[in-house]
Amino acid sequence: MAFRIAVLISGTGSLLQALLDARDAGALDADIAVVGSDNAAAQGLARAAAAGVPSFVHPYVKGSDRAAWDAELTDLVAARDVDLVVLAGFMKLVGPVFLARFGGRTINTHPALLPSFPGMHGPRDALAHGVKVTGTTVFEVDAGVDSGRILAQEPVRVLADDTVESLHERIKVAERVLLVRTVNELAAKGNP
Ligand code: GRF
Repeated sequence: MAFRIAVLISGTGSLLQALLDARDAGALDADIAVVGSDNAAAQGLARAAAAGVPSFVHPYVKGSDRAAWDAELTDLVAARDVDLVVLAGFMKLVGPVFLARFGGRTINTHPALLPSFPGMHGPRDALAHGVKVTGTTVFEVDAGVDSGRILAQEPVRVLADDTVESLHERIKVAERVLLVRTVNELAAKGNP
């Protein structure tokens, strides 16, 4: 049976696009069963629609019950019977109910070489620190922030005239390749 993945996004969705492009090129060894977003305006939702992939929107309303939001997200993903959840620019932390169900089979990407520069500003923090090499990390999601087991990494050189934007853009190029490769490696191993 095909290895099924859910992809969760919040914004542009260029990582999602890389997965869709790989699928269309026959280079993804997985079915993209569903795309979910916490943001109804995410550009990635249009990418899913254009590719014929079903999607759902599950916003978190500030101040509302976070545990209930987490449980509903878990149900929405579980309904699609997926083997792996890929957080691809998903800007919310998943909670305990989600991790009880999908822990060990949820991965995320980060635009820095973890454990360096975790958090929301990997490229900015790497640039501010003056490192000459940074990169991207695909890791297993746990209850911490960017703290899970590292699955794969790819270095990216920092150039003398880099801005946060130019550096992040080059990291994202590497990130797309690494994410597709990691999904294929996990698919090859089968359901963990
Ligand atoms: C990526 O750099 C990812 O590591 C970070 O957010 C970016 C997502 O970009 N968490 P996009 O929405 O896939 O274009």
